[in-house]
Amino acid sequence: MKVERGVFAPARGDLDVARLRADFPILAECVNGRPLVYLDNGATTQKPRVVIDALARYYERDNANVHRGVHTLSRRATDAYDAARATAQRFLNAASADEIVFVRGTTEAINLVASSHARPRLAAGDEVVVTAMEHHSNIVPWQLACEAAGARLVVIPIDDAGSLRIDQAEKLIGPRTRIVAVTHVSNALGSVVPVARVVELAHRHGAVVLVDGAQAVSHIAVDVQALGCDFYAFSGHKIFGPTGIGVLWGRAPLLAAMPPWQGGGDMIRTVSFEKTTYAEPPFRFEAGTPDIGGAVGLAVALDYVTAIGLDAIAAHEHDLLAYATERLLGIPGLTIVGTAGDKASIVSFTVDGIHPHDIGTVLDQEGIAIRAGHHCAMPVMKRFGISGTARASFALYNSRADVDALAAGIESATRLFA
Ligand code: ALA
Repeated sequence: MKVERGVFAPARGDLDVARLRADFPILAECVNGRPLVYLDNGATTQKPRVVIDALARYYERDNANVHRGVHTLSRRATDAYDAARATAQRFLNAASADEIVFVRGTTEAINLVASSHARPRLAAGDEVVVTAMEHHSNIVPWQLACEAAGARLVVIPIDDAGSLRIDQAEKLIGPRTRIVAVTHVSNALGSVVPVARVVELAHRHGAVVLVDGAQAVSHIAVDVQALGCDFYAFSGHKIFGPTGIGVLWGRAPLLAAMPPWQGGGDMIRTVSFEKTTYAEPPFRFEAGTPDIGGAVGLAVALDYVTAIGLDAIAAHEHDLLAYATERLLGIPGLTIVGTAGDKASIVSFTVDGIHPHDIGTVLDQEGIAIRAGHHCAMPVMKRFGISGTARASFALYNSRADVDALAAGIESATRLFA
């Protein structure tokens, strides 16, 4: 189940994209008779052979339930699950593996914190601060928590480029702020939020910071201790791992002070009809049989990314982003939505006179997969006065040839709808 480190190491600091592409079986597929050009990595990433094989191997050889059995397979499954937690700890540079809670994904992680950390603490008059570029999953759980407590949701605006208005953050984060929930990278715009600066502002007022890292972890090296935040969440499927598994990292004292949010097996110490006592974190937050195979697959995915190196990945994707920006801006009628100075891996755009869904459909006919719509970020669309965008999002296996195919596909769409 171990990925041999170094096997995927890039030569001379550059990514050997052709070699990396060979790791992903699906990239050899044809779609609508054309070689697949996969540019929907913001929605989900493809899986390398090592992850697919690890999942198959786990189910073929090791499958059993964790923490319950005394038999050999149960011990093997438990060891693999524990090892996956340690891998996630190393990946985020968390202080302890006990700070890693396995969840279904980022959405569940945020709901866990909103439910178990925020709800018992929020009172009338308190404020939860989010940004105007959040995904719905980093808005709605806080709205629910605020409604229950009579607290207020405060929104830090973004500028016309899609960058966070730090000047406004300085004003809006204040003594009433209890929680600041920010994305690390906007899924709709690609903007990178200066998390360390936001943390500084929040901590000045004793507020806790949760970072939605769903769009960041496969593009930016994350060190939660260096960032200084209090909670960090990400989804496995957006970093070449399986769907249905994700990570919530939380500082140990915060997790220790949080009540359970779901009851069931594995999250208790003792149960009686009179009184139940609870396990320590992270088990307190992992009621029921977890996604053991998913955790095993996620760990292999994290090792895969680590072996390639996030700095090399980021450099490659920045090159793609710059190239895509230049190519797309050459297409008449095309506007890029989200032009922040600090961006990661996403190009959102509109084309005059063509609905984003029509762009997506024409591209699909050419075997090119992008996403079109509001990207679960309706407030972002409202901010820019549009109903949606077409969005290309890059991963380590994309190349300039993919960008050329995208540009040619958009040009076909403009001819079709002219
Ligand atoms: N949140 C995912 C996206 O941006 C689904 O596409």
